[in-house]
Amino acid sequence: MQDLTNRFPFDIRDVEGTDNKELSKYFLGAGKFNIQVGPKKYLLMSDYKHDAENIYNMPLRHDDIFLLTFPRSGTTWTQELVWLLVSDLDHSTAAKVPLSFPMLMHNNIVEHLNKEHANNPDNLKTLQLMRTPGSEQVAKMPSPRFIRTHLPLSLLPPTLLDSTKVVYVARDPRDVAVSFYHLSREFKSYNFNGGFKTYWSLFVRDLVYWSPFFEHLKEAWRMRHHPNMLFLFYEELLQDLPATVQRVANFLGKQYRADQISELCTYLKFENFKKNPSVRFGNLKEYGMMAPKGEFIRKGKSGGWRNYFDEDMTREAQCWIDNNLQDTDMKFPTMI
Ligand code: A3P
Repeated sequence: MQDLTNRFPFDIRDVEGTDNKELSKYFLGAGKFNIQVGPKKYLLMSDYKHDAENIYNMPLRHDDIFLLTFPRSGTTWTQELVWLLVSDLDHSTAAKVPLSFPMLMHNNIVEHLNKEHANNPDNLKTLQLMRTPGSEQVAKMPSPRFIRTHLPLSLLPPTLLDSTKVVYVARDPRDVAVSFYHLSREFKSYNFNGGFKTYWSLFVRDLVYWSPFFEHLKEAWRMRHHPNMLFLFYEELLQDLPATVQRVANFLGKQYRADQISELCTYLKFENFKKNPSVRFGNLKEYGMMAPKGEFIRKGKSGGWRNYFDEDMTREAQCWIDNNLQDTDMKFPTMI
């Protein structure tokens, strides 16, 4: 008989009481079916529970590359960078290949959209793929697989780092919150219906999806010296893109000339990147998953949070950050 305890060692509970009331009040797209996973209570949509065990036990391949982030931390940017480094800097193909995101959960909204797209077989096919459990999607991907996910390390296979390279990207939580707030308003799977102050109050209480923010980061930070783990900050990419690109190349065992790295940096520069159709997720608008004015690649700066926090919020944020950094030596580049 299969030992289910080992196959997935965490409990999955429905969010109840006032927390769930708040979630369903503000996240209109996600509905009221929210779950919390394990002792850290990662907040996810209920679709996850059907695939939790399969994801935790998914067969890995020696050339897999995982990219892990809390949402809005520079995932898309880093994925394109990693893809290009591994693919011999093939810019022309990169501009055409849409980035995959196999472990994002949007069953809730796709079900609804299927009716709207009933007469468009191409769209229906893509929507169907989006509904396919993440573990099935990654099993069908050709090698080398680039798998990006917002799931924390603890919910992925425990042997992940033994066999697979993992890049983790972290970002100042205040900028993450502002960026995630905008996406949460524009992305139909969330359809957040409140102001930033409300969003931030949920963020610090670990009541936005994929939270708790700090646990997510700390799990990866603890493993940062593992030879198969590269821990990056979004702000390092912003501050010195060529040096950070070089670090990623070293990590992946790839060697390029200075002029090639420089060309890659031009390609990845915000102004150019924003125009790149393969990373803008324009199809999400076509399927009705993203508001028409929504921008996946938005401002691309650090410190924009200052325009959203009043004095009280700034003080409270500092307190929250200080408390959460007490038991770690993790330091954000913006706070040194
Ligand atoms: P902002 O909303 O603050 O602009 P993710 O891909 O994890 O969802 O992260 C999205 C954030 O990364 C957005 O932040 C986006 O603008 C920023 N970003 C994407 N590409 C970038 C680039 N080439 N340079 C700088 N920031 C970039």
